[in-house]
Amino acid sequence: MLSVIYISVADPMIGEQDIAALLVQARRNNQRDALTGALIFNGHNFLQLLEGPADKVDACLAVIRSDSRHSGMVEIRRRTIEERGFAEWTMLYDPQFRGHDEALSRLAGNGRLDPQDALMIENFIALGRRARSAIATDD
Ligand SMILES: Cc1cc2nc3c(=O)[nH]c(=O)nc-3n(C[C@H](O)[C@H](O)[C@H](O)COP(=O)(O)O)c2cc1C
Repeated sequence: MLSVIYISVADPMIGEQDIAALLVQARRNNQRDALTGALIFNGHNFLQLLEGPADKVDACLAVIRSDSRHSGMVEIRRRTIEERGFAEWTMLYDPQFRGHDEALSRLAGNGRLDPQDALMIENFIALGRRARSAIATDD
């Protein structure tokens, strides 16, 4: 199986309702294609981990790449895996993405989430939090 993590720039007009709609599509297709993973939105950027059969992952990434709801997709990790990190989620998402910390550490606690993946995701979450608090205090 293949696991890919990418980051991208969200359309500035995107809102939670758009993301909810996106997730309905993603989860339906991912269920069909045996794909699992996690999506994180930090207010500006997406980070997504997508894992499953290599051909399905790459086909899905090609579709995602041309989606106008984001741009500038850059892969930050691509590797062959034996076990999934997010086996139970057709696409894990929490709008209050702080919730990911808990879900992630639970997963990491179970020893299923690759430490490097966990670190990349946690750092991305922390960056978003720092950016928001910088904006909040900037006047
Ligand atoms: C950030 C982001 C993540 C997405 N993740 C997935 C995904 O995991 N699986 C998926 O099938 N589509 C995903 N999509 C949606 C696809 O780009 C595309 O709109 C969708 O697969 C089309 O589905 P349909 O042909 O069934 O209408 C994502 C889009 C964005 C912007």
